[in-house]
Amino acid sequence: MKIVTCDSYEDMSSAAADIFQNQLLKKPESIFGLATGSTPLGLYSELVARFEAGLVDFSKSSSFNLDEYYPIKSTHHQSYHYFMEEHLFGKVNFASSRVPSGESDDPKGECEQYDAAIEAAGGIDLQLLGVGVNGHIGFNEPAATYMLSTHLTELAQSTIVTNSRFFAEGEIQPTSAITMGFGAIFGAKSILMLISGASKTPIVKKLLEYKIHTDIPASLLLLHPDFTVIIDKEALGT
Ligand code: F6R
Repeated sequence: MKIVTCDSYEDMSSAAADIFQNQLLKKPESIFGLATGSTPLGLYSELVARFEAGLVDFSKSSSFNLDEYYPIKSTHHQSYHYFMEEHLFGKVNFASSRVPSGESDDPKGECEQYDAAIEAAGGIDLQLLGVGVNGHIGFNEPAATYMLSTHLTELAQSTIVTNSRFFAEGEIQPTSAITMGFGAIFGAKSILMLISGASKTPIVKKLLEYKIHTDIPASLLLLHPDFTVIIDKEALGT
């Protein structure tokens, strides 16, 4: 694991944007694995700014998102389709972008097609990840066993509570999601995890133990040969 520490959220976002920019320079037709949530918002706005300044060009590259609530309509304001369109896809020029469908009536088929599409693209070059306060990656929640393939999963109670901040009172919040499994994530040539904010300090401490905790999905990434974590001061707890 390579660790980069930053003074602020803004510095973390800018360091992550540098990695994206270098990836595009190295391989314009890169396949990116993307995440939603609060953590990558600064990175996405930095990428939009760099795109507008002519510093990055996604026209030959494609993306696959980690996950999507299920069931949810793509047009729902809390769907990850909507989030990505709002913060990135609607503002830069990816050749193609895919998010698992939360509205398919055949989720198993959707998952199989999603993995097949990632494989047909040649796998992911750079996988961006956030991390849950319980150590989940994508929606691979702490469990006794982990799935390799993209699958429909139930969200942990703590994830439902943490994400309830995004839903208005009385609004139905999905308790399941389609998520990439460890196969596609681990198959990525490089993995970039961003960790920000004091709520993540316990998980940072666990990662810095350099141990595999089977109940902390993120710790399995310590086995990946090209795993970079950018952590801001608040998350480090210093
Ligand atoms: C989102 C995702 C999740 C988030 C995690 C952290 O696509 O896969 O694993 O990365 O829940 O979320 P934030 O960034 O909101 O703390």
